Formats: sequence, C-alpha cells, structure tokens
Amino acid sequence: MRIALLGFGTVGKGVYEIIKKAKMQTQGLTVSRILIRSGKKKILPEMTDSIAEIINDDEVDVVVEAIGGIEPAHAYILEALNHQKHVVTANKAVIAKYLKEFTDVANKNHVKFYFEASVGGGIPWIQGLEKALRIDNVDCISGIFNGTSNFILDQMSKNNQSFAEVLSKAQKLGYAENDPSADIDGVDIANKLCISADIAYNIKISDRDRLPIFGIRNIRSEDVRYFERKGYLVKLLGLTHKLNNEYDYVVEPALMRKDSLEANTPGNYNLISLNGETIGKLDFFGQGAGMFPTANAVVQDILDIKENKQHLERNFDEKVQYDANIFQQDYV
Ligand code: NDP
Ligand code: HSE
Repeated sequence: MRIALLGFGTVGKGVYEIIKKAKMQTQGLTVSRILIRSGKKKILPEMTDSIAEIINDDEVDVVVEAIGGIEPAHAYILEALNHQKHVVTANKAVIAKYLKEFTDVANKNHVKFYFEASVGGGIPWIQGLEKALRIDNVDCISGIFNGTSNFILDQMSKNNQSFAEVLSKAQKLGYAENDPSADIDGVDIANKLCISADIAYNIKISDRDRLPIFGIRNIRSEDVRYFERKGYLVKLLGLTHKLNNEYDYVVEPALMRKDSLEANTPGNYNLISLNGETIGKLDFFGQGAGMFPTANAVVQDILDIKENKQHLERNFDEKVQYDANIFQQDYV
C-alpha cells in the first residue's frame, strides 16, 4: 500500500516515523510521496511540491492530508477522492465543514474517507462512537475535547504559570493548532463536537456559526487557583444533547468537582463521553493531541483501509434541527 503524505509537520512526520517502525515492516506500507510547500528544501527523496504529481500517480493508494486548515486541504481531498484514492485526514476544521461532501464524493468513487484522528487524537473515539451506534441511539456527547486548553488550565493550576507561558509550551510540544486561537477560543472543540454530532445524530450541522462557543482566553491563573481552593477545577467542555428531532450544543468553561473524571484529566489528555440506551455512559480517555498519539490514529485508519474494514455508512437526515432551549435547564 503506497501512501502520499500532504504536509510534513507534527502529524505528517509522526505518520512517517510510525510507518518506519520495525513492528510495522510486515504491514507493507510505504510512504512514496510527501507534499511540501514550494520553495522548501527537499530533504527526503519522496518530497515534491507538486500536488498534481501525487494525484496523477496511479501507484498512490492512500492520500493522508496533514496540512490543516480549509483551503487547499478541501480541494486536495476532493481531487484525491475523484482520482479514486482513499483519503485519511486529522483535519477537523475541514471535516466539520465538508463531511457530507467528502462522504458523497468518496461513495461515488468507491473509495474510503477516514478521519479517526480528527477527534480525540489517539483515542479511538470515532470508532467507539460508531460501534455504540450499531446498537444504540446516542443522545448525549460531552467532555474535554481539546488537549491544548486542558494543558493550559492544568499547568496554570499546578505551576503558577501565566496563560501566555503555558500556551507557548503547548505550541512547542506540538499540541496547539497553527493558529492557537482555535484552541483557546473553543473553535477546535466546536469542530470536534460538530463531527461527533454529525455521526451520532446522522445529521450535517450546517448552522455552526449560530452555536454558543466560549473559550478560556480571559481566565487568569488566580481565577484557576481561587476555584481550586473551593474544591473545583476549571475545564473547557463541549456538550451536545439530542431529543427527538432537535439537538442542542455548547462549548464553555465549567467548574468540575475535584473528584470528577473531568477534573482528573491532566495535561494534553481528553475525556470524551457518550450516553447510549443500553450501554449507558461510556467514557474514552487518552492523549488527545501530540505527534505520536495522533499519527497512531492516522495509521490505524490506513490499516483499516488496507484490511478493507468498513466504517459506518452515513446518510444524513435533514429533519434534525438545532434548538437552544431543549436542555436549557442543564446550563443554569
Ligand atoms: P503542522 O503545522 O505541524 O504541520 C502542517 C504542515 O503542513 C507544515 O509542515 C506546513 O508547512 C505544511 N503545509 C501547510 N500548507 C501546505 C501546503 N499548501 N502545501 C504543502 N505543505 C503545506 O500541523 P499539525 O501536523 O499539528 O496538524 C496537521 C493537521 O492535523 C491539522 O489539521 C490539525 O488540526 C490536525 N491535528 C493535529 C493534532 C496535533 O496534536 N498536532 C492532533 C489532531 C489533529 P509549513 O511549516 O511551511 O507551514
Ligand atoms: N490542537 C488540538 C488540541 C490538537 O490541542 O486538542 C488535537 O486535535
């Protein structure tokens, strides 16, 4: 199976390194091409700055999009799918916006579009959610979906460091987005909630701009420590519920009791929970950001494609609508 990597940053490099691991040698995966920006030095023989060269290479089976952002990622994914190449991506921003289009184009071309790493980094969340949906309706998803903001809040409480100092540390560790405002203003969580709700409720959230999203930009170390003395940790949460044909949705900082699972989710870890009719509450915990956990999820998708493992089929239902009032009492 020949793989083309688009982008050679944190995630792209991680995928390249994992595929080179001794244990992976029997899997028959080869990175045959790597797209870098034009003008950048080609330090590996696989590197090219021509997307056309990759798209027109009949020997490339899977394109891994790891450049991030909306364009040109959206255009490159469509081109790859339309050239009968499977696509794997970790790019939640582009999936939150175009999941329906990617699904339709992949189906039309009889190829796979997989995106496990886009929510929860190394946690097999999409797979877990899809498994739950084989038996149950899922009516609630909640939790800590962003490693950078969780790392910032955690370090602010433990190390008495300022917001800016800790953010810079998260960037160096490869947790933060290219534009870290997506992490601290809740937008990255909104993208992940959209993708999760799209799958759980079989809808395509198209009115995301109307949804309430609050971040942690204005939280100070003294606030974090004040609440800690009172027995609470500040956590940035995403939450969505569904009832009949209506759903609601919010991203907001919340005070969690020190003995709760959320309060005990440290550093770059994520904690994502779902509620299903027969399974009840199910919690997923693990590293939600960082080079190797994320790359691990990407490589798992590539292996699923190689082994022809089918992920859930989607056929979005237009009837389900946003209603801010259905669970309003939960937020009081
Ligand atoms: P990086 O910024 O580290 O890597 C992106 C790479 O893509 C950079 O090397 C960049 O080059 C290159 N690039 C950008 N645009 C182009 C282009 N047009 N042509 C060729 N190369 C390009 O980001 P990450 O690896 O951290 O993230 C990649 C994706 O994975 C994002 O969508 C992100 O949201 C997602 N993700 C990241 C996680 C993480 O923990 N880091 C976890 C889960 C998902 P240059 O350096 O020149 O800009
Ligand atoms: N910036 C994201 C985070 C990467 O910190 O959670 C993982 O999606």
